[in-house]
Amino acid sequence: MKEEETEVWSPKPFHGPNQWPSEDLLPGWRETMEKYHEQVLRAGRKIIRLLALALNLEMTYFEKPGVMDSPMAYIRLLHYSGEVSIPEKGIYGAGAHSDYGMITLLATDGVPGLQICRDKDASPQVWEDVQPVPGAFVVNLGDMLERWSNGLFRSTLHRVILTGEERYSIAFFLDPNFDCLVECLPACCSLSNPPKYPPITSGHYLIERYKLSYKN
Ligand code: OGA
Ligand code: NI
Repeated sequence: MKEEETEVWSPKPFHGPNQWPSEDLLPGWRETMEKYHEQVLRAGRKIIRLLALALNLEMTYFEKPGVMDSPMAYIRLLHYSGEVSIPEKGIYGAGAHSDYGMITLLATDGVPGLQICRDKDASPQVWEDVQPVPGAFVVNLGDMLERWSNGLFRSTLHRVILTGEERYSIAFFLDPNFDCLVECLPACCSLSNPPKYPPITSGHYLIERYKLSYKN
């Protein structure tokens, strides 16, 4: 890599610059994506206000400086082929997982496939289809929120089972600032229910999770 190219990279993980295809190749792409990002982020912030209210916190609790003012907020564009999933053989569109961060807003094209498991500790696990609702997002809670709320909120275990139809979806992952300390929320612990997890920064939590999932 040439020296002037390395300069644009920020030293912070998850904060590299976007790499856009040229305007000639995909006219309007960057503008569309940036507009989508701005609007989906706005929707995500509103949902986070609702989470604060649900936790008996001030509606603007997560809007304090250092929490979500420089969020890690990224979009994953997904295309699933027309292959048929065979769960018994371990063939999935996406295997069972919960998202790592705080919340995910998922827009789908209406092709079924997404399933959730309401009780991830049950054995055997029971999977339910999520019916696509036109114009609506599916909102999944992530593991970082489960940790932050001391297990009060459970992250959503989900997977994608393909039925032979091509499928597109857009996942928007919204996580606190890299340096935000994720420490048991005051409304989620008491003397009889002490914090289950030590404090960790949002960025380091994600780095640890990625390390675990990519180690072989
Ligand atoms: C994900 C995810 C589901 C979907 O990207 O984490 O779960 O419907 N996507 O594509
Ligand atoms: Ni997911």
